[in-house]
Amino acid sequence: LASIEFDMTKVQEGQQVVIKWQGKPVFVRYRTPAELQTLASEPNAGSPPESDTARTKDGHHQYLVVLGNCTHLGCVPTFGTGDFGGWFCPCHGSHYDASGRIRKGPAPLNLPVPTYEFVSDTRIKIG
Ligand code: FES
Repeated sequence: LASIEFDMTKVQEGQQVVIKWQGKPVFVRYRTPAELQTLASEPNAGSPPESDTARTKDGHHQYLVVLGNCTHLGCVPTFGTGDFGGWFCPCHGSHYDASGRIRKGPAPLNLPVPTYEFVSDTRIKIG
């Protein structure tokens, strides 16, 4: 399937849902107000440096959608762990923040944001 739709009401605040798109895991995360506040206090981070607002959609900044393979060698990072409150990759120790930006460890790049859009207030289309 070139594109898929996903109902965002399936993700609880503070949690993520992992869906499959083109054979790859996609993390859909509903960030808490505390997480958003932390991200807003560090506007640019990661590699390349990016703002959280640039990685999310206007009016829907609580939601993050990223490809779920570590940019080092492709393992699937673990949700809610690591030094930056995002994900931790157990394979070689990469730490991502709650925007999916690489903050520490061998991974060279932020988790990529796939092409997607909100087709309604509660549905996204990926691809
Ligand atoms: Fe994630 Fe190596 S594959 S740190």
